[in-house]
Amino acid sequence: MQTVAQTLLNHRSIRQFKPDEIPQATLDEVLHEAVVGTSSSGNLNSFSMIVTRDPARKRRLYELHGEQEFVLQAPLVITFCADWHRTRQWLRLRGACDNFNNFLGYQVAANEAMLISQSVTLGFEARGYGLCYMGTTLQAMGKIADYLQLPQTCLPITTIAVGVPDEQPERRERLPLRAYVHDETYREASTAELEDLYRAREESGWQRYMSMPRLRAMCEEGGITSLAQMYTSPYKYDPEAYAATSRQVLDALRGRGFLPEPPTDEAVPTPAG
Ligand SMILES: Cc1cc2nc3c(=O)[nH]c(=O)nc-3n(C[C@H](O)[C@H](O)[C@H](O)COP(=O)(O)O)c2cc1C
Repeated sequence: MQTVAQTLLNHRSIRQFKPDEIPQATLDEVLHEAVVGTSSSGNLNSFSMIVTRDPARKRRLYELHGEQEFVLQAPLVITFCADWHRTRQWLRLRGACDNFNNFLGYQVAANEAMLISQSVTLGFEARGYGLCYMGTTLQAMGKIADYLQLPQTCLPITTIAVGVPDEQPERRERLPLRAYVHDETYREASTAELEDLYRAREESGWQRYMSMPRLRAMCEEGGITSLAQMYTSPYKYDPEAYAATSRQVLDALRGRGFLPEPPTDEAVPTPAG
């Protein structure tokens, strides 16, 4: 087993897997370590993890996750949910006040889901397994919630596909540490500093995209000439699609009881006079 430092320094997202199954005992061990070893707000552990192994169910998740091939290949998919449902059941059972069916509840539980997901990730990676997160969880939040039969105040936040790696990708570089670290208070980077911070990342990122023939052709057609333009183009994080997904996420939050329903016409007070 690798140390935490080795695990972090060896990290790469893995998107190709061998067909090998992950033994139940290993899964149990990784999940147990993550649960006992992850801090939790109020120790209320407001998360749940849905483990998917069944090929037919994985296929439906693959569809919901924008048909990312590795979902089908990976023997195991875990959906991490922000979950106050269980805790609220317990509160009711004990005659305590109801709570957490509000936006702060969502925010706290979403944090917990992300924290536990990273602990699980480290556990798998330390044992030599590979995995990839799926941001598509947010894009299909409502549909995934329905498919996994999530109850009220329970929503999927992120998902990982896990297995034995069948690729050894290059390490993706990050910005230099100084880009992320501020001494005492936030200090905005100057234009010259930004140029310096992003230079290597721009070069390697752009080269990577341009090595993909289909993407290269699309960029040439769409007049996209830099990594920055690529990031907010229709091929990556298109602003309109992002805004539309934001509205869907808000709908999902409303539907699962984390945000109040908008007032109906009848509830809107008519102006006096
Ligand atoms: C929250 C989150 C969502 C992600 N979603 C996806 C995804 O949907 N598909 C994908 O191929 N990679 C996804 N990734 C992986 C990132 O692309 C990857 O972490 C990043 O490019 C850095 O590469 P590395 O993990 O190999 O260092 C996601 C990562 C995170 C943390």
